[in-house]
Amino acid sequence: MTTAILSALADEQRGLIEQLKSPVKMLRAGREFWCGELYGHPVVLALSKIGKVAAATTATTLIEAFKAQRIVFTGVAGGIGPGVRVGDVVVATEFLQHDMDASPLFPRFEVPLYGRTLFPCDAHLSALLLEAAHASCTSPEGLFNVHNAEANLAVHSGPMASGDRFVSGAQESLALQSALLSQGLVPLAVEMEGAAVAQVCLDYGIAFAAVRTISDRADDQAHVDFPRFVQEVASVYALAIVNKLMQMLPKK
Ligand code: ADE
Repeated sequence: MTTAILSALADEQRGLIEQLKSPVKMLRAGREFWCGELYGHPVVLALSKIGKVAAATTATTLIEAFKAQRIVFTGVAGGIGPGVRVGDVVVATEFLQHDMDASPLFPRFEVPLYGRTLFPCDAHLSALLLEAAHASCTSPEGLFNVHNAEANLAVHSGPMASGDRFVSGAQESLALQSALLSQGLVPLAVEMEGAAVAQVCLDYGIAFAAVRTISDRADDQAHVDFPRFVQEVASVYALAIVNKLMQMLPKK
């Protein structure tokens, strides 16, 4: 069973290619795909670039051309849930598109003709990913204290919201949260790809799971926090969690 490891940016995936056994680079849809083996599992590593369309293109290529049978997304996100702080880790349970609005034809945030607002992650794969995230956080090496040695960093599990917009203002973030809340939606984090991959995976019947490290609070400081975090910390988290997950996945 081929597992795809997908991130938006090279900074979120640095180090993984070097660990691949028998690496082969292939080009498709203007992207590099690295095929090989990790801990005895066939894998394909890919970078989606940023945004929902780029993510959907990459996910579709992974499934159609590289025969990926499950997709794991690793990257960073802006924390909007209460108590979701910079340096925390969030494993997604489901995704919504916060910029989807075909009202008044359909309720705001509902994806037309799918009859749904929330796109689920695979429960089993997500449970393993959550376990991998916990194990990495509590490792004796204290890997997750890379970012802040004093902080008691938390691993969360819950809904995430994706949209083609970097949320970088406290007011904007609050307005978005209140619009979502009015529909009963309380995502823990915002990012720009996950919901698209979740939708493609639902279309194809492929298992999907996603883990995001919180790089910023989607507030007035987000544009400063984000690049620093992505360059310095993001790949350390992704590498540790993916390594743990690959060791936990059953071989078949
Ligand atoms: N990814 C990381 N931080 C983000 C933010 N504030 N908005 C959207 N995507 C993000």
